[in-house]
Amino acid sequence: METVNNGNPSNRVIIFDTTLRDGEQSPGATMSLKEKIAVASLLDSMGVDVIEAGFAASSLGDAECIAAVGKAVKRTRVCSLARAIKADIEAAAKALEKVERPRIHTFVSTSPIHLEHQMRKSEAQVLDIIDETVRFARSFCDDVEWSAMDATRTGIAYLSKAVDAAVRAGASTINIPDTVGYAIPEEYQALIAALVAQFPSVCFSVHCHDDLGLAAANSLAGVKAGARQIECTINGIGERAGNAPLEEVVMALKTRADFFGCETGIDTRRIYPTSRFVASTTGFFVQKNKAIVGANAFAHESGIHQDGMLKNRDTYEIMKPSAVGITQSQIVMGKHSGRAALKNKIAEWQIDLDEESFLRCFEAFKALCDRKKNVTEEDLLTLIHDHQHTAMQSFVRLISYNTKQNGPGNHTADVVLEINGKEEITAAFGDGTLDAIFQAVSKATQCAPALHSYEVHSVSQGTDAQAEAVIILKENDCFYTGHARDTDTVMASARAYVGSINKIIARAV
Ligand code: KIV
Ligand code: ZN
Repeated sequence: METVNNGNPSNRVIIFDTTLRDGEQSPGATMSLKEKIAVASLLDSMGVDVIEAGFAASSLGDAECIAAVGKAVKRTRVCSLARAIKADIEAAAKALEKVERPRIHTFVSTSPIHLEHQMRKSEAQVLDIIDETVRFARSFCDDVEWSAMDATRTGIAYLSKAVDAAVRAGASTINIPDTVGYAIPEEYQALIAALVAQFPSVCFSVHCHDDLGLAAANSLAGVKAGARQIECTINGIGERAGNAPLEEVVMALKTRADFFGCETGIDTRRIYPTSRFVASTTGFFVQKNKAIVGANAFAHESGIHQDGMLKNRDTYEIMKPSAVGITQSQIVMGKHSGRAALKNKIAEWQIDLDEESFLRCFEAFKALCDRKKNVTEEDLLTLIHDHQHTAMQSFVRLISYNTKQNGPGNHTADVVLEINGKEEITAAFGDGTLDAIFQAVSKATQCAPALHSYEVHSVSQGTDAQAEAVIILKENDCFYTGHARDTDTVMASARAYVGSINKIIARAV
């Protein structure tokens, strides 16, 4: 079988997105299958080269997701992670069976600390495992990536032997993860440079964690040394402190093309809408001062900066907000805008919306115009995303609520819910308005999970701004995220709670 040539001219950096695998490993960042497919479609239209859609052997849900993402994407390569175990590789191959451009990504630890304490294997034994499992993966798939887990705490002599074993067995991409976020840029650059010099025809990949806040810097140092694939996630979500943020590494390569001399295939105007969607879907909001996608990333506050900006934007702006998909116009549409205007906006953002979802979205837009004078780009973007592929199967729907304060810490709520198509009213007490509503919903649905987190943000500015609520519930060690928006903060929170409950019920049936 031919080894896949990753079609990698020397200045083209492959963007490998692992939001759906390493990203989803952030505690609480779980997404439903429909949400994952929606994220994959956004990554596909953004121009990501490889999507790691899951870890097939870890759960039936992941295997189903890999197959479904493979069906949904139009051009991106789809990958499953697999430990260096035959059963894992078989599970990955099965999930990828009908995927047009599949990749199996298999990994094993190489550092002395992992070999001694976790794997209890000798270096020679691990070399045999690499040979056997990479060959096994190649028997299913031409495109095999191999990762040396904890590579940055592995001595270069043994790491080279391990890379050599993987390359000889047929891996065409070799990933050098900084699994525990321990590396320093100069050191990581030297490590990648040494490997590139030793294996000039191999495509080296960087996969950096952010434990010391160096994931983006290390990834870029790796590219400077000759790595030609970056593994990253939207908004940098991921295990512990997260992974290298896609938006940061891509914009650094673009903005400092003079320094790196490299390019990616990313349509950077898709970055902001995708970041917004991942944030509200996972409930992991980005901090205001986050590079590229934070609310303040392009805001100039000081008088000196504002003065410079008015004279010439280049004085203090190294990237244009429009380059990452942030449009300047604030008020975009109002109650007199028709279907054509909304369709136009959706096309401008290159968002896929089938006709049925579009009609529901248009109805919701009109309803929002009745409650809110100025509908902003942010409002519109979140509204469209709400209707994109994500219509969850709904067992419970909140129709209305009524609350009363009986005294300090003593509230009553009556909620009207539609449960499996039947309308029911339920009352409950709580020590606050929201507590009483949540208690009533739990009572009516006989579902009483623990509240893991609750956050509410304003989507845009002004007192009539929509509130965006995200609730993560925890039951049997699983997390369920619900999100909703409304000009009424309590309604948004109550609907987010009902959204999480729907996910719990969907799991149970
Ligand atoms: O951080 C890591 O080492 C990983 C591997 C599975 C590639 O995520
Ligand atoms: Zn990782």
